[in-house]
Amino acid sequence: MSDTDDSSGTGGQEYVLGRDYLASVRLNLQHYLWVQETGYHVHPSITLKPGMEVMEVATGTAIWSLDLATKHPDIRFLATDYSLDQAPPPEFLPRNVELAEWDLLDGGVPEEYIGRFDVVHVRLMMCVIKNNDPSSVVEKLVKILKPGGYLQWGEMDHTTHRMEHALPNMTSESFEQAVNFPSTLGRKDKRMNQSWVSTLSSRFQAVGLFPIADVHAFRNKSHLSFYTDAAFLVWNEWREGMSASDKETYGGILGKAKREREEQRKGLALNMEIRTVVGMK
Ligand SMILES: C[S@@+](CC[C@H](N)C(=O)[O-])C[C@H]1O[C@@H](n2cnc3c(N)ncnc32)[C@H](O)[C@@H]1O
Repeated sequence: MSDTDDSSGTGGQEYVLGRDYLASVRLNLQHYLWVQETGYHVHPSITLKPGMEVMEVATGTAIWSLDLATKHPDIRFLATDYSLDQAPPPEFLPRNVELAEWDLLDGGVPEEYIGRFDVVHVRLMMCVIKNNDPSSVVEKLVKILKPGGYLQWGEMDHTTHRMEHALPNMTSESFEQAVNFPSTLGRKDKRMNQSWVSTLSSRFQAVGLFPIADVHAFRNKSHLSFYTDAAFLVWNEWREGMSASDKETYGGILGKAKREREEQRKGLALNMEIRTVVGMK
């Protein structure tokens, strides 16, 4: 941990989210809601072709690579993460998917990855990027791209978040506290600050990537309740790692937020922009 990044606000943990089956179900739900919302796994500016090699970093359950691998049997996918605990066992993978451990924050760039990949994909690094600065990760990802290769980065932009009310007279006081409490921990743990998300495109250009796309939009209302269900799971995962006093405070807030949402027949939802940035080397 660096001097400037004290994670004591989130119980001093290395990873603030969970890794059990509920956390994996949540990641997979978020993935399918994301694809349903954006309409793609790969931004339309990128054309996948047979013979390509694709690297997904911080893969989690590897769901993005697995979905694409079954549609593109002639493309090789390497899915990496510093923990492969949430990914399926190698025996269950299609022949064109491989898993490997790679620590993007503290590890160097393995020699065999340099200049190798046609497409590099990364998504949902909020709560992972330290000190509000993704630059060192962007630099590593550029190194593993071939000249002419694409870097695609997808994020939810928490700085844009807003409450959606089904009816104008609905109140959301406790619900808003549930949303905002983890950000207050950002005073101590800078991973909980995510203003870097809106700067991604300029960070890409700073390391010489040609700007291809920077698209951002709020979710439509039709699937917003399901995304909000997933948000409750995230908040419970965060809570697990909090200090005893924060854990107690947040437990109370979450209980009230759940009741408030139920009383209003789930007419309260959280929305924030999904952002996809693409650059070419
Ligand atoms: C919120 S999950 C997103 C998973 C996946 N990208 C997705 O969109 O479904 C964040 C992932 O970042 C990974 N991660 C955290 N720190 C990392 C590091 N230092 N190096 C590589 N991966 C890391 C976690 O293990 C986790 O799988």
